[in-house]
Parts: sequence; C-alpha cells; structure tokens
Amino acid sequence: MTALPASSPRVLSGIQPSGTLHLGNYFGAIRQHIALQHSHPDQALYFIADYHALTTVRDPEVLRGHVFDAAVTYLALGLDPGRAMLFRQSDVPEVTELAWLLATVTGMGLLERAHSYKDKLANNITPSVGLFYYPVLMAADILAYDGTLVPVGKDQLQHVEMAQDMATHFNEAYGPVLTRPEPLPAKAATVPGIDGRKMSKSYGNTLPLFESGKKLRKLVGGIVTDSTALGEPLPFATCNVVALLRLFCTDPELAQIESWYHAGRRDDAPFGYGHAKLLLADKIDLYFAAARTRRERLLTPEGRAEVENVLTRSAARARVLAHQTLERCRRACGLR
Ligand code: ADP
Ligand code: TRP
Repeated sequence: MTALPASSPRVLSGIQPSGTLHLGNYFGAIRQHIALQHSHPDQALYFIADYHALTTVRDPEVLRGHVFDAAVTYLALGLDPGRAMLFRQSDVPEVTELAWLLATVTGMGLLERAHSYKDKLANNITPSVGLFYYPVLMAADILAYDGTLVPVGKDQLQHVEMAQDMATHFNEAYGPVLTRPEPLPAKAATVPGIDGRKMSKSYGNTLPLFESGKKLRKLVGGIVTDSTALGEPLPFATCNVVALLRLFCTDPELAQIESWYHAGRRDDAPFGYGHAKLLLADKIDLYFAAARTRRERLLTPEGRAEVENVLTRSAARARVLAHQTLERCRRACGLR
C-alpha cells in the first residue's frame, strides 16, 4: 500500500453478515460501495463485520456461512479485489485493542444516546455489554484504517458521528493521532419490500438478488397491490411495483409504463398489475444475470478457494494499516 496523498480520502465501510443480501442492500449500499472502488482505486476498504455479528448470531456455522455469502455476493456484484480490499473484520484483531483504547476516553452518556441501542432496549432485547459497546468497536473499525469517508445508510449515521467524537476525545487527550472521519450518506431512496414497507430482512419482505426465472416471478408476484380490476386505469405514483421498476428502467421506459398504467391497456390488450410484475421480474432477472453467473463460479471449489484467498490477502494489507494506527495510539497513551 502506497502512502496516502492528502487529496485521496480512504473509503471504508462494514457489511453486516446477517443473511441473504437483498435488493434494498444492493441499491442502498452495495452499489455505492462498488462504485467507490473506481473513484478511489486502491483506497477502498470493505470488511465483513463478523465481530459485530456476534452480538446477534450465536451459531458458528451460521456465522461462517453468512460471512462467506457476503464475500461471494460482493465479488459477484463486481467488487474488484485489484481495486478494493474485502476482508473479515476479525482477521484484523487490532481493532479490538483500539476499541478498548477508545472506550477509555468515551463517556457512558455518548453510548447511552445511541438510537440503535435504545431501539433494542425498547424492543425488550436484553442487552449484552457487546451490544452497548457496539459503536466503540465500529469507531475502532473506522479509525484503525484512517478511514476518512464512510459510506453508510441513514441508520448508521449516528454511529459515524460517535466515531468522530471518539477521535476528537482521543486526540484531545493524547495529541493529533487519529483522523476524523466523515460519513458519506447513501443517496438512494429507501427500497420498498413486497409489502410496501422498507425492504428489510427483519420484516421478511425482501426480494433476493440472485433468484431468476419462475421462482423470481413467483416472488415478484407477491408484491402487494390494490384491487383495481384488469383493464381499469392503475395508480402509477403510489404503486409498489412502479417503485421497484424505477430502480431498473430508463426514463423513456418509465414514461411508456406510465401511459399503460393510465390507460389500463397496452396496445390493444388490457394491462394489469400481473403484466407490470412480469416486466419487473424480467428486469431484475436481466440486471443480475452476469452477477449470477459469476456467483455460480465463485461457489465451485476453485471459486471458493479464490474467495478465501481474496479475504486473506486483503486482511493482510488492512492489518498493516491498522497496526500502524494502533502503534501510534499505544505510544501516545503511554503503553510504550
Ligand atoms: P436489513 O434492514 O435487511 O437488516 P441492514 O440494516 O443490514 O438491512 O442494511 C445494510 C445496508 O443496506 C445499510 O447500509 C442500509 O442502509 C441498506 N439498506 C437496507 N435496506 C434498505 C432499503 N430497503 N432501502 C435502501 N437501503 C437499504
Ligand atoms: N454497523 C454497520 C451496519 O450495521 C456495519 C459496520 C461495522 C460498519 N463497522 C463499520 C459500517 C464501520 C461502517 C463503518 O451496517
């Protein structure tokens, strides 16, 4: 890794290995991560946050499976290990030591204000110390690599702000050792799930990325619509199918679909939600076709070995960066 020119901020983000990634994850996060590898070549780090996942996943096989699945998904969707690093968080154990150093300059009050922690309490989840400490580990993830730009969804903004506070507190105590990060909020609109609420694995309303053919059509067929009869004009602006079509269609294509909605007809035949859903299923199928093929290859024994190799090599590079930061911090606070 070459020295960082001041004009080239390092981009960094963590991926929760918590199950099959869905369309919301792709348009809300993954697509932006992959795009950033082009604007910040060799300066983009993405890690699969397996230490964080331990706050919710207790089955070792399930965790290993989810971590691998996340890696395969990113690589299939176009993450280029020649431009970006992709590794397991736990392959850089330095972050846990840095988290401890940060914890010693962090007030309880800061962590008690965390929305995600308060939400969990409100949902009657008995918190572990790990859950409470989650934002400290996340701050260590960011600060360990001098990550200056952190692309995240809205739900994670507060955690990045906490990392800013922790960097400030540490620097106030020990001198200018840590780089203050900046969040890069996702621009994409919230992707609706098949029931119209935000697509989220916790609502069970997701559309997967790698399904195709009949199975995909069946899933898309489950999107909730109103009961307008076939041949009647359909509401365009409020339709869940349209909200998803917007992710895949060009403006002229959308204008065409809008005219079919308004008329309730396409050419000389009636046009209903079933037809719109077929259009959507075909769009999704085509959009991810190349990624599906790459994924199939990555799931062969040779492909798996390649994935493992990417994770290991990236971790080794990331570890060098984290080690440098940790040494600076250790020295600054008197551990050397
Ligand atoms: P889930 O809600 O399924 O648990 P996560 O919270 O793990 O998803 O989200 C991982 C990333 O994907 C975050 O950056 C989040 O903002 C983004 N994301 C998740 N769901 C959506 C959605 N429906 N629309 C846009 N972005 C989303
Ligand atoms: N907490 C993030 C999430 O739930 C994942 C994450 C862990 C992360 N460490 C990070 C994101 C550091 C950005 C930077 O999605």
